[in-house]
Amino acid sequence: MLKQTLLEATRAGASQLVHYFNRDFKISNKEGVNNLVTEADHAAEKAIIAVIQNTYPDHFILSEETGEIKSNSEYKWIIDPIDGTVNFANGIPICCVSIAVEKNGEMILGAVYAPILNEFYVAEKGMGAFLNDKKITVSNKTEVIRSCLVTGFPYTYLDSPRGPLQVFEELIRQGIPVRRLGSAAIDLCWVAAGRFDGFYEHQLQAWDSAAGFLMVKEAGGEVTDFAGEKFSPYQPQILATNGKIHNELLGYVK
Ligand code: IPD
Ligand code: CA
Ligand code: CA
Repeated sequence: MLKQTLLEATRAGASQLVHYFNRDFKISNKEGVNNLVTEADHAAEKAIIAVIQNTYPDHFILSEETGEIKSNSEYKWIIDPIDGTVNFANGIPICCVSIAVEKNGEMILGAVYAPILNEFYVAEKGMGAFLNDKKITVSNKTEVIRSCLVTGFPYTYLDSPRGPLQVFEELIRQGIPVRRLGSAAIDLCWVAAGRFDGFYEHQLQAWDSAAGFLMVKEAGGEVTDFAGEKFSPYQPQILATNGKIHNELLGYVK
């Protein structure tokens, strides 16, 4: 039932994304220079929340554009109505809906749907991760030097000693490919699917990482913060890998 509602809500959000993709829509700016929110983000969020509340009116909701709809429920839905908004606004198909369900503080379900790419990822705690109903697993690479990595950068540059550009430069100088797709949820799914061997980012929000985190775990990967501690989507740093390069990559981001 919970999973069915999750799938239905994800599809409802994605149909709004498809409806507005490459059409005219209103764009406004949030904090930061190019931190956009479009009419489509709001429409997708509205459609998603309507589906959830139709079945579970008393569940807690945390959604990027609306914020918190608080309740005492043990269930919490964590929603990014469109992850990869800058891509979306430029007609770049790397954008998706990302929704996770947490029960008593533990992530139990995650869905990431990139409808223009026709890729629907679903993860269920203890049951594995799936792309379009086919089980996915992380890659087998064992060395960072042989890996293909992905990262992202915050909208407002983070000036810290081991900031995003320092880590990026160190990897790139060694000839290690590091991609920048512009959707953290898709980055994480592509680690889960074995396309990338690792992903790191310095400053994410819970709605960016919650569903993708479960996807990587259920695909057999490892996810921690930059100190190598247990990952929580309520802190900003994420290192997600196939597990085999985790300690080595940790040395770069630490
Ligand atoms: C952003 C994307 C991007 C990441 C940013 C996020 P949005 O989310 O996930 O890949 O680098 O940190 O804010 O704004 O497109 O939902
Ligand atoms: Ca996001
Ligand atoms: Ca978003």
